[in-house]
Amino acid sequence: MRKVTIQVPATSANCGPGFDSLGLAVNLYNEATYEVTDTKGFQLEVVGEGAEYLKPFGRNLAFASFLKLWNKATDCQRIGLKVSMVNRIPMSRGLGSSSSAIVGGLFAANILLGEPYSKDELLGLATEIEGHPDNVAPAIYGGFTISYMEAEKAHSLRLLPAKPLKFVAVVPSSKLATSLARQAIPETVPHKDAVYNTSRASLLVGSLLSGNYEYLGMSLEDKLHQPYRAHLITGLADVFAAAKDAGAYNAIISGAGSTVMAYVDPAKDYEAVARAMVKAFAQHGEQAVYHILDLDTEGVKVI
Ligand code: HSE
Repeated sequence: MRKVTIQVPATSANCGPGFDSLGLAVNLYNEATYEVTDTKGFQLEVVGEGAEYLKPFGRNLAFASFLKLWNKATDCQRIGLKVSMVNRIPMSRGLGSSSSAIVGGLFAANILLGEPYSKDELLGLATEIEGHPDNVAPAIYGGFTISYMEAEKAHSLRLLPAKPLKFVAVVPSSKLATSLARQAIPETVPHKDAVYNTSRASLLVGSLLSGNYEYLGMSLEDKLHQPYRAHLITGLADVFAAAKDAGAYNAIISGAGSTVMAYVDPAKDYEAVARAMVKAFAQHGEQAVYHILDLDTEGVKVI
């Protein structure tokens, strides 16, 4: 087998209080066809996000992740590689576009080599590249994931919420590099803030599993990363307020930002929530678009 097409879902990490731990996959997808060629070197075709600036370099995560697994499994057998992508996940907006490239590349190489590695081993390789497991885990497994590191190895528990939710992702035109957003976080936090987050993250998992969504509003609050990043996202406090005023349970920074994601009861007017959030961004001079999303339960797959 020399060619495979992979689909990877967008993800939303942190989920409010679960910094570097919680994540979920949503039904917005990137697709990539990986083809091993006789011609040495890299070729890249991109439709959609990143088409104007992604280049066929070894540093490009789609190539780097494929080659990480390929070289490990084949003792560095030299190949040419052609990648054709259809990218729908906005880049540098906190919706897991990097994870999609990492997971897509690893998964494609694994398939073309006859699946020498399990999904759990792919999680380990993906986390080595990404640096933390909270986006790559839901991209691999789908659903809602609780990830943790033990002895520098990533593990993840995948769960499905008891009842459906709508995820309103409002994507501002301003990008935010994860590296910059991580620099904003202090080395240490007050103990009471850690307790605040432990209780909210626990409540979030309990609420999602039990279907007691009346706790979602409180459980999506955070003191470990959002307060330190708020100044990096124009109008954030007003966008949060607009989401709640329009009927969302609550809203959070998706991943490291800049997307703001509201969690909404499917019975409510989630389009109105989206419009209110876009309007709040606009009042601060920030253009934004929105996506109304559902949970993806499958994760990465061959199509
Ligand atoms: N947990 C990560 C962060 C997600 O907030 O920096 C973005 O990669």
